[in-house]
Amino acid sequence: MNRGLFITFEGPDGSGKTTQIERLKSFIQSKGYDAILTREPGGTPISEKLREIVLDKHNMEMDYMTEALLYAAARAQHVAQVIKPALDVGRTVICDRFMDSSIVYQGYGRGLGDCVRIINEYAVRGCFPDITFLLKVDPEIGKLRIKADEQDRLELEKLDYHKAVFQAYEELEKKYPERIIGIDAGRSIDEISKEIKEHIDRLLG
Ligand SMILES: Nc1ncnc2c1ncn2[C@@H]1O[C@H](COP(=O)(O)OP(=O)(O)O)[C@@H](O)[C@H]1O
Ligand SMILES: [Mg+2]
Repeated sequence: MNRGLFITFEGPDGSGKTTQIERLKSFIQSKGYDAILTREPGGTPISEKLREIVLDKHNMEMDYMTEALLYAAARAQHVAQVIKPALDVGRTVICDRFMDSSIVYQGYGRGLGDCVRIINEYAVRGCFPDITFLLKVDPEIGKLRIKADEQDRLELEKLDYHKAVFQAYEELEKKYPERIIGIDAGRSIDEISKEIKEHIDRLLG
């Protein structure tokens, strides 16, 4: 049996990842493929517990390396329990954020550097995405799309942090052009969705 397609979505908060993922899942299923949706940090009971710790507004004293390791721990469990077993039986997996998020938010944003990539390579044990859609929208515009009372600890970081993260995403896009597809996410939901479907159509044949 062929391994399933592993698709990830990346981009600032409010860039439209969740919106586009829902649409893409329906599209892939309408073509007769078995697709599952999952998200990070989370996706398993253990990973969801780790997610709560990382995003808790009361944990303002959290050390950056602790943050990076918690994300990687949540991801290791998610890959082992959900992503790899699904891909192994030929299912398509669509994941809302994956290791690129750690590389940009902790590696660049927190200044931890390349060790974040290395930690995560241990965590995913060879289970890398086949294609990553990077939804590119100015972080300021993304922030305006999200209600203030719904923002978690990382969303409350200063705009400078989010701008640095966005630049890091653009660097990753240049570094991995065969995997990361940059999408102009300042457009309408329909326009973005159409472009994503065209890419997936080409991959699924
Ligand atoms: N292209 C778009 N234009 C305007 N608003 C959008 C667009 N895509 C999503 N939204 C809205 O912005 C908010 C955040 O979208 P969401 O999909 O949750 O983003 P993310 O998952 O990347 O944080 C939602 O209220 C959503 O309806
Ligand atoms: Mg979302």
